[in-house]
Amino acid sequence: RAEVQAKSLALSEVMTKAGEYYKQQLRTAPQAIAYLKKRGLTGEVAARFGLGFAPDAWDGLRSVFNDYGDASLVEAGLVIDKSEEEGGGRKRYDRFRDRVMFPIRNTKGQVIGFGGRIMEQGEPKYLNSPETPLFQKSFELYGLFEARQPIREAGYVLVTEGYMDVVALAQMGFPQAVATLGTACTPTHVQKLLRQTDHVIFSFDGDSAGRRAARRALDACLPHANDDKIIKFLFLPTEHDPDSFIREFGAEAFEQEVHDAMPLSQFFMRETIGDNDLTTAEGRARTQFDAKPLLQAMQPSGLRLQLVRNLAQVTQTSPAEIETMFELSQPVAR
Ligand code: UTP
Ligand code: MN
Ligand code: MN
Ligand code: MN
Ligand code: MN
Repeated sequence: RAEVQAKSLALSEVMTKAGEYYKQQLRTAPQAIAYLKKRGLTGEVAARFGLGFAPDAWDGLRSVFNDYGDASLVEAGLVIDKSEEEGGGRKRYDRFRDRVMFPIRNTKGQVIGFGGRIMEQGEPKYLNSPETPLFQKSFELYGLFEARQPIREAGYVLVTEGYMDVVALAQMGFPQAVATLGTACTPTHVQKLLRQTDHVIFSFDGDSAGRRAARRALDACLPHANDDKIIKFLFLPTEHDPDSFIREFGAEAFEQEVHDAMPLSQFFMRETIGDNDLTTAEGRARTQFDAKPLLQAMQPSGLRLQLVRNLAQVTQTSPAEIETMFELSQPVAR
């Protein structure tokens, strides 16, 4: 236990140093600066998010760390070590090369990981830090450290998919945005968000992956949804994400989208009805079947009762019949 702690300390020092190095490298990288400008970002917002640049070198980090062979560089995911493998060749090299760097911070503001974007076409578009004792992707939200105060001021948080969405929204007047780092939104994410605010608006990409992500977010929210929480879903046109939308249509149009976001209850009905035909007994039964696991995931609450009533109405049953059929737990009597 003590050992793990000592190691994590060293790791956070390594990450901080690397972040400083990438930031400093950005100053003397005209192509990276041009890329960020082309994406519409100002130096101010780049500084706010600590954006950097990893130069096109195999061992750029050698200039920062006295011992490039230090095991913690590998453990931090900054250096890849192939020395155990057969066939000779390069043994140790920087993971991030020729990429614009987005540091990922924890809520204390410490750098715990990086995402690196390629500037041309190429794969992968974003290279991320591997999981380390400091960095667990399914727990972290990109931008949460920077967004904490703005979330309090705005009274809500915007949850997006990507690095660029967070940075672009901040620049365009929506600093209350975070991102799930391309992974599915987990119940842990939702818990973390609801610790900051009682009003969460999901704004994923308009493509099919984004719509799937919204459904996953709905699933993740249901155990935590409650009568004092507002959860909404903002659906953008198919070809857009929050970054591209706000660049093309402006802050006011995005504000309107935020205003018009779909309440959880409505998204819930849309998802459970799907393309079931409510004019047939089979379609109504299927709708109940699809709603069952969702309602069972919820705590007893006024919101759950409202969803049950809505479901009862469209499926021509009564709320009591649904509660019995789904064996929905009742609030403990006091
Ligand atoms: P997107 O493909 O929507 O990228 O992936 P983006 O955020 O809009 O980025 P730009 O605008 O093209 O620069 C959403 C998120 O999924 C993760 C990243 O966190 C990204 O921001 N992702 C995507 C990866 O980790 N690796 C990838 O290769 C692609
Ligand atoms: Mn509120
Ligand atoms: Mn996408
Ligand atoms: Mn996107
Ligand atoms: Mn994008």
